Amino acid sequence: MNRDFLFRQLLRAYRSGIISEELFEAEVGELERGRAANGDGGGGFRAFGKVYRSERDAIVSFIDKARVAEGNAAEAFAAWASVTPTDCIRSGLKMIAEREGYHSRIFANRLMELGGEGHAQVSEESRQFAACAADPSMPDNEKLLRVASSIPDPEAAIRPILEFAESIKDDLETKEALRLFAEDELSSTRWLLYACGALNPAAGAEASSAR
Ligand SMILES: [Fe+2]
Repeated sequence: MNRDFLFRQLLRAYRSGIISEELFEAEVGELERGRAANGDGGGGFRAFGKVYRSERDAIVSFIDKARVAEGNAAEAFAAWASVTPTDCIRSGLKMIAEREGYHSRIFANRLMELGGEGHAQVSEESRQFAACAADPSMPDNEKLLRVASSIPDPEAAIRPILEFAESIKDDLETKEALRLFAEDELSSTRWLLYACGALNPAAGAEASSAR
């Protein structure tokens, strides 16, 4: 894998909200030092452009961050559902909130089972999304445009998760959880883009003519 490919993977993970800005910067720094690109990471486990000491370390790191990000998203979508005046998106927001909440619980449980410690913090970007989702004065179509601009391509957004799952050889329990997680995320983001198009007919037309 060359450095450009690893960088693009990282960028995709960052843009789709899978990794925080801090982690993105740290991992780009690692790449720049040439460690991953030169393959001198001591034969460790590679994930998201970084070399971990082991598969377990990579899993613990990922599920810790996902636990926090999904928990924040669960609160954000539940708050959005409670303030939305738009009947046709309320049930979808509630379902996404439930999904995000159970992802967070599954990852928190798995982290405990693996003896890992929770260190991850909610990123500033996620915090801002939660504040905007809960804002009763912001119209739903604007909230949806904001979501759509952060996840323009749902398939691309989940690809790093699927690649990570694919690379896991020992921890089959987490591997399959990650596959199902990716499918849930794909379903949620596709629906959000559909809702965005429905509430923003002009933006929807632009998006489909660009495709
Ligand atoms: Fe999510």
